[in-house]
Amino acid sequence: MRNKIFFYALPLLLAVGLWSCSENASPASRQESERQDSLSAATILDLSSLREDDELLAAIDIRIPYDLMAGAAREYRAISLEKVLRNHFGAWLGPAMADSLVLSFICKDGYAPSMPLKQALEADGYLAFKSHQSPVGQNWPDSLAEAYSPFYLVWEVPREEAAHYPWPYGLVQIRLQPVALAYADAYPKGSGPALAGFDVFRAKCLKCHSVNKVGGNMGQEFNYPKSLTEYWEKGDVKAFVNDPQSFRYNSEMTEHPKLTEEQFEALWDYLLYMKDHKLER
Ligand code: HEC
Repeated sequence: MRNKIFFYALPLLLAVGLWSCSENASPASRQESERQDSLSAATILDLSSLREDDELLAAIDIRIPYDLMAGAAREYRAISLEKVLRNHFGAWLGPAMADSLVLSFICKDGYAPSMPLKQALEADGYLAFKSHQSPVGQNWPDSLAEAYSPFYLVWEVPREEAAHYPWPYGLVQIRLQPVALAYADAYPKGSGPALAGFDVFRAKCLKCHSVNKVGGNMGQEFNYPKSLTEYWEKGDVKAFVNDPQSFRYNSEMTEHPKLTEEQFEALWDYLLYMKDHKLER
């Protein structure tokens, strides 16, 4: 349910932003072979297991300059996300892997935002388990207790960047999986050129648009049942992305990504490829 509200309402979308738009897409020459990784299935970390080891003892007090859910600064007792990832997924976190792996945060109500592993490792994320605004002897204020426990993912980033990170609460599990698995139906299996375009789509469009139903639903689906390439001219798509309000004065695509010529060409190649790889009806 949370997802629906999340994707339909712009303010909420901004409040729970998923993917960093600053993530750079890779050059068109990137080949499928370079994406092969030995991690072929999801690796799962159940956060309930954290209680049993001494990780919680390594907890620290943190101050989050802008807590996206609270809309203000907040203080928590928390453990470093990077430490937890290194302890549990250590073998997979080398620089070569970070690019091709995705973290998914599974919440107890089924909400499950994802983010590139690399983005998570580059920022200071924390698994908060106690708010300093709780009544004595409690981990959370009464109004949050049920939804926020056991963990709430927070980021020590400036206010203007906060919306580029996921802020899931009621977090119970973290999954690490290859891009191809995390975005299965939108992933251009076996096509080198389309892969570069997929990277552009993932970094710049996916949080609002979907391909084969994978992605956000604030903007339109791009591939199913009809591909955007079947009813929009290439030049118009390019012009629209560059300046949506020049097409519709009230366009809600207010946060529009800037694409280089090369990125747009790659994106178009990807959309053409996916046109021939639609979901089965
Ligand atoms: C922040 C959310 C957001 C992002 C990111 C975004 N869009 Fe959009 N887009 C929208 C919304 C909302 C619309 C709905 C149409 C409108 O309000 O004009 C839209 C509409 C469109 C349309 C018109 C579709 C139609 O059939 O009317 C195209 C084409 C489009 N977007 C392309 C892109 C591309 C390509 C990217 C990535 C490079 C992208 N958008 C990124 C939100 C977004």
